[in-house]
Amino acid sequence: MKESSGTILVVDDDAVARQLLADALRKDGYDVEIAGGGADAIALGLAKRFDVVLTDIKMGEVDGFTVLREFRQRSPETAIVLLTAFGSMDGAVEAIKQGAYDYLAKPFKKEDIRLVVRRSLEHSRLVRENARIREELRERHGSPLIGSSPAILEVYKLVARVSPGKSTVLLEGESGTGKELVARAIHANSPRRDRAFVPVNCAALTETLLESELFGHEKGAFTGAVATKRGLFETADQGTLFLDEIGDIGPALQVKLLRVIQEQEVRHVGGTAPVKVDVRIVAATNRDLAQMVRDGKFREDLYYRLNVVRIVLPPLRDRREDIPMLAHHFLQKVCSANNPTIRGFVPETMALLERYHWPGNVRELENVIERTVSLAHGPLIMPDDLPETVRKAETAMAGGNESLLSLDEVEKRHLNRVLRETDGNKVRAAKILGIDRRTLYRMAERFGIDLGEGDE
Ligand SMILES: Nc1ncnc2c1ncn2[C@@H]1O[C@H](COP(=O)(O)OP(=O)(O)OP(=O)(O)O)[C@@H](O)[C@H]1O
Ligand SMILES: [Mg+2]
Repeated sequence: MKESSGTILVVDDDAVARQLLADALRKDGYDVEIAGGGADAIALGLAKRFDVVLTDIKMGEVDGFTVLREFRQRSPETAIVLLTAFGSMDGAVEAIKQGAYDYLAKPFKKEDIRLVVRRSLEHSRLVRENARIREELRERHGSPLIGSSPAILEVYKLVARVSPGKSTVLLEGESGTGKELVARAIHANSPRRDRAFVPVNCAALTETLLESELFGHEKGAFTGAVATKRGLFETADQGTLFLDEIGDIGPALQVKLLRVIQEQEVRHVGGTAPVKVDVRIVAATNRDLAQMVRDGKFREDLYYRLNVVRIVLPPLRDRREDIPMLAHHFLQKVCSANNPTIRGFVPETMALLERYHWPGNVRELENVIERTVSLAHGPLIMPDDLPETVRKAETAMAGGNESLLSLDEVEKRHLNRVLRETDGNKVRAAKILGIDRRTLYRMAERFGIDLGEGDE
C-alpha cells in the first residue's frame, strides 16, 4: 500500500486501544504517530504536519473537542476524525458541527477505519490543493480580470492594445459577462487613470433626464432647473465616460450624442455656448447593435463612431475552463468577509459548476458562490450546498429539447461523453461509470466505439 502513504496522528488515553489502531494503520503503510492525551496531540501538531488526526473524545484534562478546535485553527488542511464511545451519537453530531471531517463509533471494524482514513486523506489533499489555487490567485497581482481561457486572453490583449490611446471602444456581450469591469480596466490602464471614470446607465433614465444628465442644463431651461448644472461629459473631462446600455437611447438623443462625439463639445440644455470637452468614450450593450442598425433602430453613423474598436465579451459557457479560477476568486472574496473557514470545493461541486450553462454569466456565478458560502457548513463546498438550478443542470442538459431516446442510445452517448471528459482514460472512465474494465470493453464493442490501444 505504498501509494496511500500519509501522516496520521492517533490520540487516545487508552494505551492498548491507541497501540492497536496505530499498528493497524502502520501495516497499511501510513506514517503514524501516537499521543496519550489532548495536550500531547496539540504539541505534536505544532512540530509536524498531519494529514489526518484520529482522536478519542473523552480524555483526561484536554479532550477531543479541544484537539479538534486547535487543529482546525492552526492546520485547516488536517482532517479530524473523532472516535466516539458506543452509543454516544450526540458527541458525533456536535463534532461534525464544529468542523470534524468524520466520526467513528467504537468499537470499529478494520474495514471501517480503512475507509474513513482513505477518505480523510483525500479530503486533506483536496483542501491543500484548493489552498494552492487560492495562493496562485493571490499572486496574480494587478488585473481584477480573472480567467486564462483563449477567449478571455483575446480580451486582455485588446484591452492592453486600446488602453493607451483615446479611441472609442464598443463593448458587446451578454449580461454579466464583465463589460463594466473591462471598461474600468481600460480606464485604469490609460493615461487618464487619474481622472474621472464616469459610468452612465442609459437605460435607467427617461430621454429628457438623460439628456440633461449628459449635457447639463442652464438655469430655467425647464421646470425644476433652478440652477445651472454641469453635465456628465464635463465631469468626465480628461477622463472616461462609460455609456452603459447604449442600445437603449432613443433617436433624438442618438443625433445629439453623435454631434458631441464629432465636435468634442457639449451644449447645455437651454444654453447656446458650446463647452469644450476632452472625453474618451467607452460604450457597452448586451444587444446586437449591428442588427439594430439593420432594423433602423440605431443610427448607422453613430454606430460607426462608437464601433472604432469592438471588444466582444464571450459568454461564460463558451469558456468553461475559467470557471474554477473565477469560483475560487469569488470564494476568496466572500470568505474573507463572512466565513473564513471555507477552503474550497470538492471535485463533484466544481464539475457541476463547470457543467451549468450560466445564463447570467459571471455575475450569476458570483451570486451563486455568495449564496452557497452563506449556507455551507463544512470546510469544502459540497454539491448539496449548491442551488438546485445548478445541481440539476445535468438533467436539464440531457433532457434538453431532444427527442426521446432509447436506453441504448442514452448509454452510448453517455459512454462517449465520459470518454471525452476523461480523455479516453479507460481506468477513470470505468470508475466514473461504476463498471469494471471488461464491461467497458464490451459496451464499447457493442456501440462500435474505438477505445484505442493501451491500458490507459
Ligand atoms: N473576468 C472576470 N474576473 C473577475 N470578475 C468578473 C469577471 N467578469 C465579470 N466579473 C464580475 O462579474 C460581475 C458582473 O460584471 P459586469 O458588471 O462587468 O457585467 P456586465 O457585462 O456589465 O453586465 P450587464 O450587461 O448586466 O451590465 C461583476 O461583479 C464583475 O466584477
Ligand atoms: Mg454592466
